[in-house]
Amino acid sequence: MQLTLQFLGLALLATCSAFTFERIDKNDSMLLVVDHQLGLFQLVRDFGPEEYRNNILAHAALGKVFNLPTILTTSAETGPNGPLPKEIIAMHPNAPYIKRQGEVNAWDNSDFRAAVKATGKKQVIMAGIVTDVCTTFLALSLIQEGYTVFANADASGTFNAQVAATANDRMRAAGVHVVSQFAVSTDLMRDWRNTPGALEMLPYYDTYLTQYGFVARAHAFAVTNGTIQPGESL
Ligand SMILES: *[C@@H]1O[C@H](CO)[C@@H](O)[C@H](O)[C@H]1NC(C)=O
Ligand SMILES: *[C@@H]1O[C@H](CO)[C@@H](O)[C@H](O)[C@H]1NC(C)=O
Repeated sequence: MQLTLQFLGLALLATCSAFTFERIDKNDSMLLVVDHQLGLFQLVRDFGPEEYRNNILAHAALGKVFNLPTILTTSAETGPNGPLPKEIIAMHPNAPYIKRQGEVNAWDNSDFRAAVKATGKKQVIMAGIVTDVCTTFLALSLIQEGYTVFANADASGTFNAQVAATANDRMRAAGVHVVSQFAVSTDLMRDWRNTPGALEMLPYYDTYLTQYGFVARAHAFAVTNGTIQPGESL
């Protein structure tokens, strides 16, 4: 009887501890910008072009706001794939910028591997064009190497939503965290009272997440200049 109870207790313990919520730690993470190239941008059809440009700039800007070690990489950029948008290069003038001559999977490039290892960080926040190749191949290699990978789904783009869903399923099956831009930025922040916190992140959202920026603007206006209209204070 006692043995059985002990056994049940162990089984229960095993069930309880099966899930670990691995959170993004801004002190232990790096940001990868993978093949967000002007030519490859034309392949992206699962977002509208304005929204997607916003999303890749928002991804790159995370490295600036949170002061994360950031690595830029491109694939065969003198060919049709083209260079990175100049805004991304301007945001990270001192970041390693690995221009791969032929490797499709960035992990196959020794300079890129060395740059990732040199950060000394264990968590990787990444996005690329296209989701099923540039993001997925690298994410799977990083998992195999023991990194924790957060794939920013808003900043990875591909031919259509079905291709994106297939790629995201493949990554999840390997243990990649497929997450939104807002989830990444708020997990990095953790608490509005931190630094970066409200003071840094409300301007970030005002630039890259219009809904939140406009809520903040409307709130500021209401507090400083607003009056309660008839019928509002129910
Ligand atoms: C990051 O490091 C700072 C300074 O050591 C510490 O106060 C903070 O709690 C750390 N953040 C996380 C998410 O661990
Ligand atoms: C409130 O009104 C003043 C004076 O017109 C203006 O300068 C200020 O920007 C307004 N505040 C907000 C948050 O709109």
